[in-house]
Amino acid sequence: MRLYEKEKRMRAACPERDFVCFDEIDSTNTYLKANISPSMPVAVADRQLAGRGRQGRSFFSEGGVYFSVPFVFDSGEKYISFLTLAAGLAVSQAISELCSADTLIKWPNDIYFDGRKICGILCESVVSGGTVTVIAGIGINTGAAAFPDDISSRALSLADAGFAVDGEKLVCSIVRKLDSFVYIDKITSGDSPGVGRIVSELNRLSYTVGRRVTYAGREYTAVRIERDGALILASEDGHEERAVWGEVNISQ
Ligand code: BTN
Repeated sequence: MRLYEKEKRMRAACPERDFVCFDEIDSTNTYLKANISPSMPVAVADRQLAGRGRQGRSFFSEGGVYFSVPFVFDSGEKYISFLTLAAGLAVSQAISELCSADTLIKWPNDIYFDGRKICGILCESVVSGGTVTVIAGIGINTGAAAFPDDISSRALSLADAGFAVDGEKLVCSIVRKLDSFVYIDKITSGDSPGVGRIVSELNRLSYTVGRRVTYAGREYTAVRIERDGALILASEDGHEERAVWGEVNISQ
């Protein structure tokens, strides 16, 4: 069901964007991917029936906020993967401002509080008619959550951690921050001065940097995030490698 009153409130709070809001939907990313157009709304749902995570996993989608933010680029645009990292930073900053919870970002873009995941991000792209539409899909565990057994020891909600937050305000704040990273800081062009500031924040708020991790089946120490968003990993002998895709597992 469409939530027209909620759409009106969100447009009023964030007039630079259009919003389409549902009580439940299969997946906000899937919805936008099926409705590609030059001027797409942000899709928001209270619940997803088939929420999707990275690497083909499902994403538990009850009791939180689930939304997808579209960005249209020229197909030649570089550094689109950096949007993935910027989305994590936008979430972490918005949560800090709206409910004073200090979260960390597990590279590339899971948001952690107290060692447990409170938010997942799935960026997908669709190429059509000479443009690429990148859809930044974000799911945040805001309300009290009855997580399934297989994730209950690793997942956490803001409510369960003692933080109350207004979901609509949170979505608007994140959308605005992401828009500012893309259109003012020009993160997708890679060489603007704003990129350095964002990368420095990503390193400061990183849950991964400084930890032992496994990546592609090998053990490393995560050293830093570079300007292009790559995670630099040092092996036992000090040799450095760049992780640019996939995810790392934290060993300790
Ligand atoms: C992950 O943790 O692996 C990524 C989870 C991404 C979930 C969000 S919720 C909104 C959007 N719609 C989806 O189906 N997935 C993303």
